[in-house]
Amino acid sequence: MRVAIASDHGGFDLARSLATWLTGHGHLVSDFGPNPVISVDYPDYAQRVAEAIATGAADAGILVCGSGIGMSIAANKVPGIRAAVVQDVEHARLARAHNDANVLCLGGRFTSDDDGRAIVAAWLGAIYEGGRHDLRLQKIRLLEQHASAGDAEG
Ligand code: RB5
Repeated sequence: MRVAIASDHGGFDLARSLATWLTGHGHLVSDFGPNPVISVDYPDYAQRVAEAIATGAADAGILVCGSGIGMSIAANKVPGIRAAVVQDVEHARLARAHNDANVLCLGGRFTSDDDGRAIVAAWLGAIYEGGRHDLRLQKIRLLEQHASAGDAEG
């Protein structure tokens, strides 16, 4: 799978560890940095991964900041992105199965390497269930369209 990953300084160590682990498991990883670690603004890095997903350049996105929260807020501003902050394996599974989340956000200050790997494996291995969830995702797309139409009018 083509996986795009990025972090800020708060998620640097976990993101680089996950990138190495994913590569070792046969994934094609695009690491959008930062590298080396410097203090950066997480929206800049959320944008890089979100746009890689939105344009189809990558299949799955992973963003790591200190809590995962800032990355998710920023990534979800990009049309087509469904980013989920996840702290355990069951939420990772649900994020894909029910929400078809295409970006996974992790908190580097709260997630061990082992837990991060388990969470990523659960998310990548889960399958979107479709069915009743399709209508709900369609309503999210309509919210995006409504917001961008408002921009045009403004
Ligand atoms: C950076 O200190 C921190 O605010 C950031 O990594 C993230 O946790 C924001 O949501």
